[in-house]
Amino acid sequence: MTTLLQRDRPAAPELQDIRIHAFDKAPLGAEVLGLDLARPLADSDFRRIHQAHLKHHVLVFREQRITPAQQVAFSRRFGPLQIHVLHQFQLPGHPEVLVVSNVIDENGKPIGLGDAGVYWHSDLSYKDRPSLGSMLHAQELPAEGGDTLFANMHLAWETLPEALRRAVEGLRAEHSYLCKYEELRQRSPWRPKLSEAQIAEVKPVIQPVVRTHPETGRKALFVSEHFTTRIVGLPEAESRELLAQLFAHSVRPEHLYRHVWQPQDMVFWDNRSLMHLATGFPPEMRRRLNRTTIEGDAPF
Ligand code: OGA
Ligand code: MN
Repeated sequence: MTTLLQRDRPAAPELQDIRIHAFDKAPLGAEVLGLDLARPLADSDFRRIHQAHLKHHVLVFREQRITPAQQVAFSRRFGPLQIHVLHQFQLPGHPEVLVVSNVIDENGKPIGLGDAGVYWHSDLSYKDRPSLGSMLHAQELPAEGGDTLFANMHLAWETLPEALRRAVEGLRAEHSYLCKYEELRQRSPWRPKLSEAQIAEVKPVIQPVVRTHPETGRKALFVSEHFTTRIVGLPEAESRELLAQLFAHSVRPEHLYRHVWQPQDMVFWDNRSLMHLATGFPPEMRRRLNRTTIEGDAPF
């Protein structure tokens, strides 16, 4: 006999037939098949995805026909979401979704950030609490190009020559959203001029050069050509030279996975373990993706 209490409790979501395959011959990344993020996700399925994300750093969920609200809800299971400083490019009605796109609307206005990721970076490393991870859901893809590269920053740290490891361990570096902003604006005039309020939102921050992943304990290099401006306490030329060596080592081919987008892909990467780069595509073609960004810990 079922009691009233049992009948009122909502049924637990059904388990899904999830298959996770690491990418062949790549130093990171896995494909997730058999999962439909439009369906309710059981806690045990969520835990499998969470563990796989920590292990592979990039998860590619294929064939996701999900709404922006569903992307937001799934992202929120990993932590609070961050709202990008370029609020001009929020998806209407969804402040937590940043539109990454080169598309211009009928009034001649850009609908999104058209040059996201033209330099290697980790999302929001210029914030006190940078991003844990980001999710990009493909909406419209160009017929050629538009791939995204990911670099494994744990490997970058672990394979760094001993002398360099000793030179950088314990150092700290400044990260700034503004450092490349004007240069990018010269190249892409649709980039908005930042308001005083926006500038105040992105004050430079100091981060460790080598960080420890808060969930796995593994160390990773945490400097990038987009946002890292200088190493604290070093003369400028020395800082520039050291950063150039770290950047070059980080993106050696054996550290990289190239994501070639398929329609309806949703890609979820770990910003604490990786850097990423947009490789570009013919400018006359259209590309549009929806991004959610999950807040992480203060790096240590
Ligand atoms: C981003 C980003 C790269 C790309 O959305 O954070 O860097 O290939 N995108 O669109
Ligand atoms: Mn990015």
